[in-house]
Amino acid sequence: MSTPPTNRTFKIAAVPADGVGAEVVAAGRTVLDTLAEASGGAFSFAWTEFPWGCDYYKKTGRMMDDDGLAALEEFDAIYFGAVGWPSVPDHISLWGLRLRICQNFDQWANIRPVHFHPGITPPLRKADDTPLGWVVVRENSEGEYAGLGGRNLSGRGPGNEVAVQTALFTEQGCERIIRFAFELARTRPHKKVSSVTKSNAQQYGMVLWDETFARVAKDYADVETESVLVDAMSAKFVLHPEDLSVVVASNLNADILSDLGSALAGSLGLAASANLNPERRFPSMFEPVHGSAPDIAGRGLANPIGAIGSAALMLDHFDLADDAARLRKAIEATTGAGITTPDVGGTATTDQVISSIIENL
Ligand code: NAI
Ligand code: MG
Repeated sequence: MSTPPTNRTFKIAAVPADGVGAEVVAAGRTVLDTLAEASGGAFSFAWTEFPWGCDYYKKTGRMMDDDGLAALEEFDAIYFGAVGWPSVPDHISLWGLRLRICQNFDQWANIRPVHFHPGITPPLRKADDTPLGWVVVRENSEGEYAGLGGRNLSGRGPGNEVAVQTALFTEQGCERIIRFAFELARTRPHKKVSSVTKSNAQQYGMVLWDETFARVAKDYADVETESVLVDAMSAKFVLHPEDLSVVVASNLNADILSDLGSALAGSLGLAASANLNPERRFPSMFEPVHGSAPDIAGRGLANPIGAIGSAALMLDHFDLADDAARLRKAIEATTGAGITTPDVGGTATTDQVISSIIENL
């Protein structure tokens, strides 16, 4: 048996950014610090908070500092809230902060588990009597979010502008995320990878993806496979979710499917995610799947479980699997006792959910 690591201090950059981001990042920090205190000195967290986001943009004209990436590179991980506020166009805020970090730090694997919590009645009726749970693996560096294209011809006058948005698929980009999905499937009870494209209509990039999937699959004869078109996969999420284990898809398709998955499990507020640079050349980033939720921000109503579940993924990343498991058990004890926020039918506040999770730790 290996001895547990001792006296490790993890330097974490907290970027709460906008709306409920501040509330849920504060929640995750409290829970992580509680775990660290209970570790008897085995590990601790050294936090630095960055004020970037839409307010910062209003003051400075920048979503983050010009040398912000260099500052972030010094950290062991980034703990992110959510970016976006009605005062700034969404494509400016998202590209200026979250996508800038993901792309420049080559966080090419985005892991988004769809987890069904005890005590939460999901809208997916099948979950009432069938144990469900799967992981969406999202290609996070290219595809439809490569940011390639442009707008032109505005000189021709109103009504004549054109826009081109190009999706980028490289064989290397497809192969690395597909292999990642297969490796993940091997660690799960149901060893299966479902690959999702729309290669009937998108005959270049997505056919390259399909061909790469078929080639890589040959190296994993012990893992079951299927290739499904994205429209059919959305139906399958609802009708045959028991058949899913690891679902690998391009940037846009997996973005949409993971919101669908978290809604089927009860709420967007429950879903955790990790943006990984698996080679560890750069810090990885942990954040809830949801956005800044302007409709409920600042009212103590935000569900902190997505962000706290993302903290558990960060513990996994630091090889603190036992502590991650403890945290997940504490979350489940809280939802199991019916202590939940209004988005999943409860009456608890954000703070009451946090207190309960801490008690259960
Ligand atoms: P959203 O995820 O912020 O909200 C969608 C719905 O889910 C809302 O009804 C909201 O109240 C609810 N919700 C979200 N998080 C919740 C939580 N923790 N607890 C309870 N309910 C929660 O998506 P929306 O409204 O499309 O976008 C709002 C802003 O967030 C936009 O500016 C958008 O660009 C940005 N956004 C940012 C993301 C990120 O930073 N990763 C991801 C998605 C959106
Ligand atoms: Mg999304």
